[in-house]
Amino acid sequence: MMTERARVTMEEITALAKRRGFIFQSSEIYGGIGGFFDYGPLGAILKRNVKNAWWREMVELRDDVVGFDSSIIMHPSTWIASGHVANFHDKMIDCKNCKHRFRADHLATLEKCPDCGMSGTLTEPRVFNLMMQTAIGPLEDSASRTYLRPETAQGIFVNFKNVYQTARKKPPFGIAQIGKSFRNEITPGNFTFRTREFEQAELEYFVPDDGKDLAWYDEWVTARKKWYSDYGVAEERLRFYELTAQERPHYAKAGTDVEYLFPWGWGELESIAHRGTYDLDAHMRLSGKDLSYFDEATKARYTPILIESSAGMDRTTLTMLVDAYDSETIGDPESGKETKRTVLRFHPQIAPVQVGVFPLARNKPELVERARNIERGLRPFARTTYDEGNVGQLYRRQDEIGTPFCIMVDYQSLEDGTVTVRSRDSMQQERVAAETLRLYLTERL
Ligand code: GAP
Repeated sequence: MMTERARVTMEEITALAKRRGFIFQSSEIYGGIGGFFDYGPLGAILKRNVKNAWWREMVELRDDVVGFDSSIIMHPSTWIASGHVANFHDKMIDCKNCKHRFRADHLATLEKCPDCGMSGTLTEPRVFNLMMQTAIGPLEDSASRTYLRPETAQGIFVNFKNVYQTARKKPPFGIAQIGKSFRNEITPGNFTFRTREFEQAELEYFVPDDGKDLAWYDEWVTARKKWYSDYGVAEERLRFYELTAQERPHYAKAGTDVEYLFPWGWGELESIAHRGTYDLDAHMRLSGKDLSYFDEATKARYTPILIESSAGMDRTTLTMLVDAYDSETIGDPESGKETKRTVLRFHPQIAPVQVGVFPLARNKPELVERARNIERGLRPFARTTYDEGNVGQLYRRQDEIGTPFCIMVDYQSLEDGTVTVRSRDSMQQERVAAETLRLYLTERL
């Protein structure tokens, strides 16, 4: 689907996010803290809708995936087995002159600082583990040291046997989880794109070693394509980049990065990977516990092959905001003057507010009461809001937060029981009998 929309800058998105209460800098009154963000009232619902849309598709609408929720802090051995203690490193370089810090892989040359332009001021690359450390109990020594998880996946791997036994599942089947992860990123940036605390939605899908593993991988790539398309992300701003053998870890048979064209360029939203038996093997080796699967039917014992889909929920939420953004010049019906309209064209399931209800005049109690009643009546079926004030401003505010439908209660409503319903995208209004609103809206949301 080609989507002709005005392109937005990150400055516009950040300003809109703050103005309308989607996203704030964390601890703003203390000057903020790099790489952390807070979701305001609308942002919290937006992100929850993104997570619900993922959970609905990946868990609830399938009979081969079960849900899971593991702890953020795990036994430190987890991170030795997973390879994070030994390998989850970035190299950082500091400029001794301007104090700017860089990731070594972001610098083309070590000659000259790209920030202040001085030569000979960059330090040698220093290795830095990205896991956030914490300590359990009152003593901070090496015995109490552990980490905040850098991915949710390991909680699933170490519980593989607990889950398949209690859920009575047999490969092929998956375990899904949404939760916080932490990485001590050297250079957080691009708003909520690269942060130090973020949420991941991970599906770990275990398949038998029967030669169909690559077909399962393809199936998951297709399923994830459909998800983004179902929720309206513009096809031309989304790409599925297949990793070459050199770009993938040695144990991975295939890998695809899902990328979105942000205002600064392409950025990764999700990685889909065929990880072989690497993760379960690693935990079996270090723990000495058996995580293989015994198939009663064939009497065969095997370690299932893993297909993983790991999506960032903050990045997907940011994608929904950026992708929905549009601005257009319209003629004001009353004054005839041209005005600019900013509109977020969210998918109705993603929109934080789905229906706004207003009285035409706030000083007419009959209109106010009728509008309030309509809003209350629709509340169990949609995310609604009641507001009052200048009509043009009411519509503008709802357009800017992406509300698909606005209902206006006017004098005719008092006579014949109809209201006007205005569509966000077409700005067309139609008269609908108030008693049929529930059906009218549920068909369109
Ligand atoms: N278990 C596999 C895994 O964690 P990953 O590619 O490192 O794979 C998956 O991370 C997704 O998590 C990324 O595609 C991204 O959406 C999100 N993510 C990773 N680091 C992030 C960060 N610093 N800030 C926000 N999201 C991040």
